[in-house]
Amino acid sequence: MKKMLSFVLNGREVSAEVESHRMLLQVLREQFQLTGVKEGCGQGECGACTVLVEGIPVDSCIYPAFEIDGKSVVTIEGLLGEGNKLDPIQEAFVANGGIQCGFCTPGMIMSSKALLDEVGTPTAAQVRRALSGNLCRCTGYVQIVESVLKSVGAAT
Ligand code: FES
Ligand code: FES
Repeated sequence: MKKMLSFVLNGREVSAEVESHRMLLQVLREQFQLTGVKEGCGQGECGACTVLVEGIPVDSCIYPAFEIDGKSVVTIEGLLGEGNKLDPIQEAFVANGGIQCGFCTPGMIMSSKALLDEVGTPTAAQVRRALSGNLCRCTGYVQIVESVLKSVGAAT
């Protein structure tokens, strides 16, 4: 079964015809070419596919696409400002070694973004808790937590 879905994607109203078995991850990557959304495990375990739906981080690999109808979705691409300027949190990951291979980075940043939008200036413990569903096989997490904290001038 197919259905026409309308939703707000990175601040723009869009619509797409989607098959009922599709997950949000597939729709974003294959129908909107938003390849910043990564597929790691495909089973809701690694967080690489994290995007914001109505401001809440979700694993898009297990989020049924039909459920986005009428909602707002933000991907890593949606954080870019005028002239493709990086968001401060993206700049902080670059400046503080929060990125190595980069595969986990979009998911890490989207989970962090949700936290920063909610609390403004988090503690290290809050950052670690917010990122507990995001796995990184490269950095050892220390630089990632520091990047999030430094992006808002919080104590590391
Ligand atoms: S790819 Fe979605 S949680 Fe791993
Ligand atoms: S930077 Fe490589 S998985 Fe995190």
